[in-house]
Amino acid sequence: MPNKESGLAPGALFVAALGLWLTANSHAAAAANADHGKVVFQNCAACHSDKPGAIGPSLRGVVGRKSGSVEGFHYSGAMAHANLTWDEANLRDYIANPQAKVRGNRMPYGGLTNPGDLDDLIAYLKDYK
Ligand code: HEC
Repeated sequence: MPNKESGLAPGALFVAALGLWLTANSHAAAAANADHGKVVFQNCAACHSDKPGAIGPSLRGVVGRKSGSVEGFHYSGAMAHANLTWDEANLRDYIANPQAKVRGNRMPYGGLTNPGDLDDLIAYLKDYK
């Protein structure tokens, strides 16, 4: 019966693909990848550049910095008074959901929710100085 054989092959392929996917994913969870974080940062770079007149404040050295503290950047009142230190936990919460973390801030960004991307982005930001 040729049908039986051709029915098996796609199933086996699926199992193999699932195995590959799981391997790739557990690897991402094990070690944050700053190189991939640099790619994720492209979502931020258009606004957070070092150019004068950039829409957002520079994120160089942001890890460990006080919120609202870039000299010369005109923050919203909400961000100016947020009184946070951008440690990993605060950054993670803010980037995942900016309005929930700092209500009324004016970063026009909806949030980055993929946990692997968030890990990698923060790993990149730690080295971004
Ligand atoms: C469309 C423009 C835009 C994009 C895209 C954007 N931001 Fe922002 N970001 C801003 C603005 C504007 C502010 C200042 C908010 C305020 O003053 O209320 C800000 C503020 C911040 C702050 C606080 C900085 C400080 O000095 O206190 C962090 C951290 C931050 N953004 C991270 C990110 C990250 C990470 C991404 C990408 C995942 C991102 N932003 C994407 C515009 C943007």
